Amino acid sequence: MKKKIFVFDTTLRDGEQSPGAKLNTHQKVELARQLEKLRVDVIEAGFPISSPGDFQSIVEVSKVVKDCIICALTRAIKEDIDAAVKSLIYAKSPRIHTGIGSSDIHILHKFKSTREKILQRGVGAVKYAKKFVNDIEFYAEDAGRADNEFLAHMITEVIKAGATVVNIPDTTGYCFPEEFGTKIKYLFDNVPNIDRAIVSVHCHNDLGVATANTLAGIGNGATQIEATVNGIGERAGNTSLEEVVMALYTRRNNLSYFTNINTQEISKTSRMVSQIMGIPVQPNKAIVGANAFAHSSGIHQDGILKRRENYEIIDPKNVGYDSSQIILTARSGRAAIRHKLKNIGIELTQDKLDKFYQDFLNLADLKKEIYEDDLLYLLGKGKEENHKKIKLDLIQTISGNKNIPTATVKLIINGKK
Ligand code: KIV
Ligand code: ZN
Repeated sequence: MKKKIFVFDTTLRDGEQSPGAKLNTHQKVELARQLEKLRVDVIEAGFPISSPGDFQSIVEVSKVVKDCIICALTRAIKEDIDAAVKSLIYAKSPRIHTGIGSSDIHILHKFKSTREKILQRGVGAVKYAKKFVNDIEFYAEDAGRADNEFLAHMITEVIKAGATVVNIPDTTGYCFPEEFGTKIKYLFDNVPNIDRAIVSVHCHNDLGVATANTLAGIGNGATQIEATVNGIGERAGNTSLEEVVMALYTRRNNLSYFTNINTQEISKTSRMVSQIMGIPVQPNKAIVGANAFAHSSGIHQDGILKRRENYEIIDPKNVGYDSSQIILTARSGRAAIRHKLKNIGIELTQDKLDKFYQDFLNLADLKKEIYEDDLLYLLGKGKEENHKKIKLDLIQTISGNKNIPTATVKLIINGKK
């Protein structure tokens, strides 16, 4: 029997902590609707005590999203929990996410306290939140650097206090995958009541291993993952939702896990998050980068044209793209050129193609990428137009808060201005 892995999306909370990513209520609602279409199990909509705007965002998201659990973040502080309870008043399935530091670094240098006092605060927060909402997730902040024995004790006590989900965050992205997996296993072996809660993993990407750590967590028993779309989040970001989901999907025949994610909504969600937050996706980003399904070298292009699986482990259609892309560059070969020409209705004999290929390479050495128009130019179609010598003489743009923006361009075409 395959095990369900719950997907807890924190794009609207941890993701929004990325510098420059701030969202207003309308934007949070729009993204939350899309996350519902993506079929995440939980939407962490914000941190209600942090600002009146964020409080209102959680209220509005709770009104419109009915198919996901709506979660609000708090510290282990009564006022935070009161704000979370109020913000979730319209939620069909509300969850409060409360917690406190678990590493000695946090206990000594952030809270200036002791393990015992911090434990009591964590337990107290869970008990208090439980009076209002049944579904309580406890986060043991900086669990990645926490002493495993103390962490196990803390988790045991918060489950006794009523936590339904226990979140083991690698807050600072410190752990290596094997180490993080071992930590999760340690908790399964040393927390006597662990079967009464869902174990969640929340990894940060400071060393670039957040996805690997999350997969190690799953491999050792965690059944909820916390992630953001495009991997945005505090500092180097959080685990990327699309990476974990597609890893489990792609390797589904070797693994015994599944998620409820509608993978075909992944590319749309990624674009929305990028556009609304104003954070571009790096081109080589796994799954959602512009180059994730683009092939530009001759050997790969030839292989992919023979059979897509030669160089792709994911069908781009499964994540919402139309198809793979063949990019013509000076590294491309004849197979790719023949394919591109065929797409525009042109077939060349082998001799002609061989000759054309030399022209192609000469042009490709001058340009980064060769487009269909360039192919037509090389074939002589529209060559006259392109033979014009065009020189940019002037470009000037004027903008300001009072005038209408204008742009002026002067070109010299075949010597004539
Ligand atoms: O990284 C972290 O520890 C967090 C907690 C608030 C869950 O984001
Ligand atoms: Zn985090």
